[in-house]
Formats: sequence, C-alpha cells, structure tokens
Amino acid sequence: MDHRIEEILIPKRKIKSGIKKAAKWIDNNYSNTGRDLVLIGLLKGCIPFYGQLISYVKTDLIMDFMVVSSFKGAEKATGLPEIVTDIYTDIEGKDVLLLEDIVDSGYTIKYVREYLVKRKPNSIKVLSLLDKKAGRKVDFQPDYYCFDIEDKFLVGFGLDYQEKLRNLPYIGVFKKVKK
Ligand code: IMP
Ligand code: MG
Repeated sequence: MDHRIEEILIPKRKIKSGIKKAAKWIDNNYSNTGRDLVLIGLLKGCIPFYGQLISYVKTDLIMDFMVVSSFKGAEKATGLPEIVTDIYTDIEGKDVLLLEDIVDSGYTIKYVREYLVKRKPNSIKVLSLLDKKAGRKVDFQPDYYCFDIEDKFLVGFGLDYQEKLRNLPYIGVFKKVKK
C-alpha cells in the first residue's frame, strides 16, 4: 500500500465488479434504441473508470471527452467549473451518458449537464463511479453510481491529490500530512 494512503476503501476486485454492473446498466438502458450513444468522460479522473467500463459494454458507443476544471488540485472545489476542452461530437438527437469519477458538491456535473442540454441531445444521463452524498451543495443525483462513499478525501483509480496518485489500482483514503 502506498504510504500516502490511510486505508484501502475499495480494492481492485470490488471496483471491477462494480464496473461490470454499471456496464450491464448501460446495456439494459441503451441497446437497441435505434439512436447513437455518446459516452462522454470528464478528464482526467474518468480515465481508469472509462477504460475498464467500455471493455464490458456490449452496446455500440461513440467515445468523447471533456476537460472541465473545477478542482484545481485543491481539496475543495473553488468557484464555477470551466469548460477547458469541449467534445467533438454533434450530440443533437443522440443519447448522451456523462461519465464522472466522483460526484461531491455536484457543481461540476450539474454545470456540464446544463451546458450540454442546450445542444438538444435526445437524452442525457450521468454515471458516476462514486457518489459522495454528504458533500452535496446542489440538488443533483447521478442516474447510476457504482459506490456510495463517506465524506472522506479519496485518491486512486483516477482520483488525485494535487494531480498525483491517479494511477493507484484501488481507491484509498488520503492520509493527511500533519504539520
Ligand atoms: P464537485 O463539483 O464538488 O461534485 O466535484 C467533482 C470533482 O471534484 C470530481 O470530478 C473530482 O475531480 C473532485 N473530487 C471530489 N471529491 C474528491 C475526492 O475525494 N478526491 C479527489 N477528487 C475529488
Ligand atoms: Mg474530476
């Protein structure tokens, strides 16, 4: 275990089984719709989740990504989110599924959802790996999430502390450095 981790909250195999269930949810909801499904990942936190998820999804999908800055490497989101890089796909009339690593205050994903709704997709839903309900500051619920988590600062499997630790294969509680 990395020395910056207090405890492993979700081990690798548990992440995998959670993600497999999410893939089934996608197949149940989006196969045979007759419309295109666009899977939009919010970079960079979505990368491990996105990569593992699509390996289990059977439904045809179009991949796209957005860079949205909300966290700025600090522990709490500051100010309004900013769209740094937009998607390339024309989503009008298509089904959009937004992929997020974690919904905390809800500001980021709510903002992105409202931003994309203006382009008139047929539907837009949110799938999050983690749901930190206690952190919520706005009225927002992901349509599906893999794990419900406590209000602790987590790292690994995409989640960072000052841009590092995203590559840990598990999700752990970050060890606060005593000053
Ligand atoms: P929100 O706008 O407060 O919902 O924050 C969403 C973003 O904050 C996520 O996409 C993460 O990048 C980041 N974030 C929230 N909680 C954590 C955490 O516990 N560890 C690492 N990043 C987090
Ligand atoms: Mg993020």
